[in-house]
Amino acid sequence: MKREIDVAARNWRPSPLAGPLFLVTTVNAQGWTNVAPKSLVSFITVSPPRIVVGCNRGHHTAQNLLASGECVLNLPNDGLASRVWAAAEPREPAPDEVEARGFTPIPALRVRPPRLAECAAHIECRLEGVQWYGDECALILGVVAASADAAACDAEDPYAVLRPIFFLAPGIFGTIREGRPVAQRA
Ligand SMILES: Cc1cc2nc3c(=O)[nH]c(=O)nc-3n(C[C@H](O)[C@H](O)[C@H](O)COP(=O)(O)O)c2cc1C
Repeated sequence: MKREIDVAARNWRPSPLAGPLFLVTTVNAQGWTNVAPKSLVSFITVSPPRIVVGCNRGHHTAQNLLASGECVLNLPNDGLASRVWAAAEPREPAPDEVEARGFTPIPALRVRPPRLAECAAHIECRLEGVQWYGDECALILGVVAASADAAACDAEDPYAVLRPIFFLAPGIFGTIREGRPVAQRA
């Protein structure tokens, strides 16, 4: 038996659409870094690689990205979940935002916003376009660089090292602890 789920995404239980969780770093006009969790994230083209991030237009993330055109998507693991959720609490811009949120900034390869040392993988992006939807917007990002901890690159199962997390519902996340090969059909 199937049961209909409320169409309002905020009320989905269970949620049929897990959102990959990233900590997005951007830089404001003063050169101060902003860190915020975003889970409305998806690949939209593969070649060249392009990603869409859904963001409230009032958020520092959208404002900084629209002004500077650059961001880094940092991949947190399950051990960072509490810090990820805490990073969603509003905070006035400050020069020490990254450290105050419990993270360590390290330079990115191709863009100005920093990578976060505690995250094991990073996607560096430049803004290519924006689509407006009322208070929200879809930020279209071209990928200009990607990097990961050597331990993840060298591991037999990199996903067991990365342990990426996914937004499922308010206050609830899921984790990938292994990458499994698809069984060959007989
Ligand atoms: C797990 C999690 C995922 C979130 N994902 C998004 C998202 O994809 N888009 C969005 O606009 N806000 C999202 N939010 C809310 C923002 O992170 C939050 O409102 C934050 O204060 C915005 O910060 P900013 O102004 O620094 O960008 C999420 C919050 C949490 C806790």
